[in-house]
Order: sequence, then structure tokens, then C-alpha cells
Amino acid sequence: MDIKGKVVIVTGASSGIGEATAREFGREGAKVVIAARRVDKLQSLAQEINSMGTGAETLVVQADLSKLEDIQMLVSQTIEKLGRIDILVNNAGFGRLDWLENLDPIKDIQAQIDVNVMGVIQTTRQVLPVMMKQRAGSIINMCSMAGLVGTPTYTIYAASKHAVHGFSEALRREVKPWGIDVSLVYPGGVVTEFSQHAGIKRKTNASTPKFMLLTAEQVAQAVVKLVRRPRRMWVIPWLWSVTVFMNKFIPGFVDYTTITRFTIPEREDELKIK
Ligand SMILES: NC(=O)c1ccc[n+]([C@@H]2O[C@H](COP(=O)([O-])OP(=O)(O)OC[C@H]3O[C@@H](n4cnc5c(N)ncnc54)[C@H](OP(=O)(O)O)[C@@H]3O)[C@@H](O)[C@H]2O)c1
Repeated sequence: MDIKGKVVIVTGASSGIGEATAREFGREGAKVVIAARRVDKLQSLAQEINSMGTGAETLVVQADLSKLEDIQMLVSQTIEKLGRIDILVNNAGFGRLDWLENLDPIKDIQAQIDVNVMGVIQTTRQVLPVMMKQRAGSIINMCSMAGLVGTPTYTIYAASKHAVHGFSEALRREVKPWGIDVSLVYPGGVVTEFSQHAGIKRKTNASTPKFMLLTAEQVAQAVVKLVRRPRRMWVIPWLWSVTVFMNKFIPGFVDYTTITRFTIPEREDELKIK
């Protein structure tokens, strides 16, 4: 697909992967609709993209992806101003990473489900009739390794990304006859603002090894590649596929190593209290 002049919606474009993705589409000369809550960040990104000299255009839409009315407004403004939607990147999302009983039922649990799951479903649901009418479109959903492998402290985040995985798989099989592709990308750790919002507290200092960390730009480049060559699933970096394979075929081993190397050392003090 030639991306120049195509209308692309990128949700969660005010930072990290979404911001880098909007920039990549800008470099390709697309008409990029950038949505998130922090409108000041979107406006400076729009200025940067507009001055790239690639013919790219931008439309800034302030939207809270947990609100249906904001999603409806995002799609209606796009149609009103740009007339069509060729590509949708469902990227907005966040994680709150703590033991389940420590998570706030509303601010941490409900909020993650509202943005990471309902936001993706409702945005896709609003965009779909437009793409079906066009008989063409590309939907790229930002999943995560947490959408394939559940890790302690990631309960709700993993639930939300597993939901994105299942939703996208079913949708792909629904919409292909209309010329619509649904692709999924599963990044491991990416250096963004994500960890600042996640509230991670670790005694073991367990984290993604540095050589496995991705930049937002690497994920953004993968997203653009998925428009040109849709894929059912793309795990990046590929080395994480080993973990996915082990989790599927030797889950007992993954349970054992995770519990003995992470859960018990992290919760040692609590386990001693009777
Ligand atoms: N970083 C990682 O290690 C990693 C790994 C795998 C997958 N991912 C996924 O990648 C996506 C982007 O995350 P990131 O790493 O780029 O983190 P980030 O820098 O924190 O970006 C998150 C984006 O989501 C937006 N967002 C959050 N809540 C929103 C809401 N209610 N309404 C609208 N927009 C909202 C934020 O915008 P506002 O705050 O301005 O609204 C921001 O633009 C997420 O879906 C995340 O789950 C991240």
C-alpha cells in the first residue's frame, strides 16, 4: 500500500509508541489524525509533522479513549475533515503493575479495561462501517507480550492484552472479505513513559534485559511495515517468541521458574506473616 495521502488514525499519539508512529506516517506523507488527552503534546507533534515537507497533514483530536462519546467524535471529525479512514492504529493504553489485591478497583482495574479493551473495541466498532463501505482498510492493534504470557503483577494488564488478542483474531476472520486487514504487534519492553505510569515496585530488580529493550521508533517502524504487509502476529524482538513457545508447550516449567525466581523472592516478607 502506498501510504502517501492515506488517512491514518493513531490513538495515544501524545507520547511513546503512538507519537513515534504518527511521526513515521508523517514521514510517509500520510494524513495523520492524532488523538489522546494531552492536547498540548498533540499540537506540538502536529506542527513537527506539518513541517516535514513530505506533504503530510495532521488533525489533532483531544479524546479520552475510555469515553464512547469522545471516540464517536474522533471518528466523525475524521470523516468530516478528511472524508475516509484507511488505517487505524489502536495504540492508546497503559498498565498498572502490582499485586491484584493492591490495585484500586476503579482507578487501576476498571480504568485499564476501559482504555486497553473497551477503547480498542469501541474505536474499531466506529471505524469499521467506514472501512467496509470503502471495501479496504488496515487495522493495527497494539498488543504486548502480556497478551501472550501472563506474569505476576500484570494480572489486569495481561487480561486486557489477552482480550485485545482474542478480539483481533476473531475480527480478522470477520472482516477479511471486505478487504480489511487486522494485524497485531506484540512488543516486549519499550522505553517510553509506560513505566512512569505503571507504579512498579520491585525488590528483586527483575526487569527486561537491556539488550531486549526496544525504542518507540522500532515499534513504530514495525507498525508501518504491517500496513504494507499485514501479519496475524508479530512478536518483537523475535527472541521473545522462545518465551511464548515455552509458555504454550511447557507451561509447568514457566510456572515453576516464575514462582520460584520472582513471586516468592518478591513476597518473602508477606509470606512469613501468618
Ligand atoms: N512500553 C512498553 O513496554 C509496552 C510494551 C508493549 C506494549 N505496549 C503498549 O503500547 C501502547 C503505547 O504505550 P507506550 O509504551 O507508548 O506508553 P506511553 O508513552 O505512556 O503512551 C501511552 C499513550 O496512551 C494514551 N492514553 C492513555 N490513556 C488514555 C485515555 N484514557 N485516552 C486517550 N489516550 C490515552 C496516552 O495519552 P494521554 O495521556 O495524553 O491521554 C499516551 O499517548 C499501549 O497500548 C501499551 O500497552 C507498551
